[in-house]
Amino acid sequence: LADTVRQPTYTAGQVAELLNVPLRVVQSRSSRATHTAADLKSMRMQLRRFPPPLGLRRQVFLSLKGGTGKTSLSTSYAFRLAEMGYRVLLLDLDSQGHATKCLGYDCCTFNQTLMDVLVRRVPLEQVIWQTEMPGLDFVPSNLSMASVDIAMMPLAGREWRMRNALKGLEARYDFVVLDAPPSFGLLNLNAVLAADDLIAPALPDALSVHGFKMLLETLVSVEVDYQHHPSNVFVVLNAYNASFRLAWESLETLQSTYAEHLLATVVRQCSSFSQASSAGVPISLFDRDSRGAEDVNAFVHEVLLRLRTPTATRPPLRLAAVG
Ligand SMILES: Nc1ncnc2c1ncn2[C@@H]1O[C@H](COP(=O)(O)OP(=O)(O)O)[C@@H](O)[C@H]1O
Ligand SMILES: [Mg+2]
Repeated sequence: LADTVRQPTYTAGQVAELLNVPLRVVQSRSSRATHTAADLKSMRMQLRRFPPPLGLRRQVFLSLKGGTGKTSLSTSYAFRLAEMGYRVLLLDLDSQGHATKCLGYDCCTFNQTLMDVLVRRVPLEQVIWQTEMPGLDFVPSNLSMASVDIAMMPLAGREWRMRNALKGLEARYDFVVLDAPPSFGLLNLNAVLAADDLIAPALPDALSVHGFKMLLETLVSVEVDYQHHPSNVFVVLNAYNASFRLAWESLETLQSTYAEHLLATVVRQCSSFSQASSAGVPISLFDRDSRGAEDVNAFVHEVLLRLRTPTATRPPLRLAAVG
């Protein structure tokens, strides 16, 4: 892959925006027209402009249905957080290795995946790779993950292996983002039991809305069986196209039925998502001015805002109230 794609560059204005400083501050430190991600990082260190810490958040992108945008959104979400100065670890849980590919890596070249961590107790550090975006690390996946559910089945503590594997990351990361495969087996049960937050992308159609209802029901039974539920469950409508009646009907259904879960940000339909994943780059790098990049940015900001809202001021999450 061309270095220019993998190595993000920023204008002085973009650096100023990401560091939240006036443009002249950036210009006074460097007269260059473009800045690399490494420049951005070093200027962040010099100016001590770090994003407000939230404590480690382990977040799973999950939906029972395939093709809702889990991979597109989780990878671009993770990338955007890293651009903002957070330290992010992206975990690819899907044996299709799409998140790995979205970051521009050939998933077949990796000898070890999370499978080795979950089944063979290989330390997580051994399967973590750094990307060329400072602050964004990842754990790759490939076809060898396909049998993880069966491989974990006979193991002691099989439901808690992910949670245990993610222990001790507090000093190293601000976000651990899990890109889950569709459906719900032992791997995804592990992911839910490890997660502080669950983000469910949904397409604007009746099947996706029904899929979110089933996901909530699944979370209720997980709560009954394991006394754990994520602190936040967000649903984000993806690939929205207002010219379709079904799209705004789905939005209305989500608004009226799942208001406390639904993010106000809607990610609009945008062909740059598939072009970006084919090119192996997150959308905000592929086409910063696209609707998709704009919506992902709004989505990231809304999630951060929700996380900063103290839980005490919000009504408690009542999963059991699902009708
Ligand atoms: N907002 C969007 N607009 C248009 N296409 C999208 C959007 N989000 C995702 N896609 C496309 O939909 C397909 C499925 O997305 P993906 O992220 O792989 O879903 P999942 O991981 O849930 O299976 C991909 O081809 C992706 O490029
Ligand atoms: Mg996927």
